[in-house]
Amino acid sequence: MLYLKLSLTNPISNGLVKKQIIMTEKKVIAVVGATGAQGGGLVRAIMNDTNSEFTARALTRNVNSDKAKALAKLGAEVVAADVDNPKSLKRAFEGAYGAYCVTFFWEHFSPEKEQAQARAMAEAAKSTGVQHVIWSTLDDTRNWIPLDDDRMPTLMEKYKVPHFDSKGEANAIFTDLGLPVTLLNTSFYWENLIYFGMGPKKGPDGKLVLTLPMGDKKLPAIAAEDIGKCAYGIFRRGSELIGKTIGIAGGHLTGGQMAASLSEALGEEVLYNDIEPEVYRSLGFPGAEDLGNMFQFKRDFEEVYCRSRDLDGARSLNPSLQSFDDWLAQNKERIPLD
Ligand SMILES: NC(=O)c1ccc[n+]([C@@H]2O[C@H](COP(=O)([O-])OP(=O)(O)OC[C@H]3O[C@@H](n4cnc5c(N)ncnc54)[C@H](OP(=O)(O)O)[C@@H]3O)[C@@H](O)[C@H]2O)c1
Repeated sequence: MLYLKLSLTNPISNGLVKKQIIMTEKKVIAVVGATGAQGGGLVRAIMNDTNSEFTARALTRNVNSDKAKALAKLGAEVVAADVDNPKSLKRAFEGAYGAYCVTFFWEHFSPEKEQAQARAMAEAAKSTGVQHVIWSTLDDTRNWIPLDDDRMPTLMEKYKVPHFDSKGEANAIFTDLGLPVTLLNTSFYWENLIYFGMGPKKGPDGKLVLTLPMGDKKLPAIAAEDIGKCAYGIFRRGSELIGKTIGIAGGHLTGGQMAASLSEALGEEVLYNDIEPEVYRSLGFPGAEDLGNMFQFKRDFEEVYCRSRDLDGARSLNPSLQSFDDWLAQNKERIPLD
């Protein structure tokens, strides 16, 4: 995409200001899920950086939604695309330098659908010659807990943590096509305390309780907006991180440490309620078994999981990376406490 940039150079010797018109070509990053948490953070990171070498193309199914209009207002190009429609993806990736690819597991709960969507994005990137793809992925937990390991139940016949395993399995779709891809291992969003019903709840005695099946182990997590900012950092590094797997988090905190930070921010004591993963799996809400296994994986493989999500590495990509306390200072009023 061509942009006209008017640049004022330093005053020259006769005291006049020399005006120069420079044609600048900005590289387009096509962003899937642009009206959502991850993609939205990336579009805002690009468009809020006025000197960026990049510009964002925001993909959405509804170009007229309020969220899409807000992105257009920032200067992003907003285009219609549906990850279930390969032709629309190909159109939307045409001419782009980069593509941010993410899937939406919790809209359908289907690993097979998630993999079909990953394949559609990878093939669209391949056929349009995208030069840098970021695939927002998670670990295939079966590399640590094979299906015949009965520490946790196998779900949907061939997964331990379906929404992790299917993304991890889809890594090969991108690499087998020979795409110039960075695999981005994201982390638990602190926003889950707001939107996913995981925030502190009042117990029968009226005390606030944060329930997580993490024992005394650390949970790597991040402010959702920082995922997009880190992705922007990856694109800004040029080809350096192509072919690499990058894990990011804004903090590694135990349930007890999260409860202590919540107590401080809310001005009211929050207790950590450590439950067993099997209890979490039986809570009965959609996805409870998947999430129970996920937390158990993070608990039982704390060292490897934390090591793969390095805080300093994330901060080097995104110098404004938020800690949990930073995030709470901005978001504490949004956490429902009923
Ligand atoms: N919650 C967590 O802690 C967490 C942590 C790590 C990873 N994840 C993963 O993050 C992924 C979701 O990303 P997110 O949180 O950024 O999503 P999100 O905030 O739920 O946003 C999803 C956006 O994607 C778009 N979308 C949905 N279906 C689409 C389709 N068929 N075609 C095109 N666009 C579609 C929607 O935009 P339009 O309506 O505008 O089209 C929507 O605004 C999930 O796969 C989840 O497993 C979640």
